[in-house]
Amino acid sequence: MSRFGRFYEERVLPVAIDRMCGSKAFRVHRRDTVAGTHGTVLEIGFGSGHNLALYPPEVKRLVVVEPSARAIELAKSRVARASFPVDVVGLTGEALPLENGSIDCVVSTFTLCTIPNAALALREIKRVLAPAGTLHLLEHGLSDDSKVQRWQHRLDPVQQRVAGGCHLSRDMPALLADAGFGIVEMRRWSEGRPRPFLAMTRALATPT
Ligand SMILES: C[S@@+](CC[C@H](N)C(=O)[O-])C[C@H]1O[C@@H](n2cnc3c(N)ncnc32)[C@H](O)[C@@H]1O
Repeated sequence: MSRFGRFYEERVLPVAIDRMCGSKAFRVHRRDTVAGTHGTVLEIGFGSGHNLALYPPEVKRLVVVEPSARAIELAKSRVARASFPVDVVGLTGEALPLENGSIDCVVSTFTLCTIPNAALALREIKRVLAPAGTLHLLEHGLSDDSKVQRWQHRLDPVQQRVAGGCHLSRDMPALLADAGFGIVEMRRWSEGRPRPFLAMTRALATPT
């Protein structure tokens, strides 16, 4: 990667993502997503910590994985205000440095779109979840509308280049099903325009 490319990925993009992901409109969906989390929670692709203030009081500890050092830096003030310990335990969702069955709930918001190997990350999530554990997911991804899908496939290569590997056309329900998760609750909706970027899924899933 060129020096400019590295600068963009390591310094510019985390700040841009912090701004976009911090949108007020997403806050209510984030709150709905983390509802019901408790005990030891793992957050995949923690970013700059936009879910932190929304966790319910039943959460006792948050462990996170995040590859971007800049994003962790941006999260510092939010981490300092958290009412439970927050520990960065690793870098990527594809290799979780955690014991089998050691996590009560996993939260993934706007991360499965970006993780290079989402299927492997879901296998890892399944491995570390306790038998009665839950996966709380909020994502954009493949729309149900075929016209929007066509634009998503067209724009996907550009999106991946400018947005740190983020895919527009990942089929979230299919990814969950293929990884062996059963859907307890799911909502699919369009958050508005531009529609290819805002085809949303919120899901609560359990390992089957
Ligand atoms: C769009 S941001 C979302 C951040 C945060 N989850 C949120 O809701 O604001 C995607 C995040 O996934 C992280 N990421 C990229 N590759 C990853 C991987 N292999 N495993 C875990 N996280 C990854 C990025 O560094 C980035 O922080």
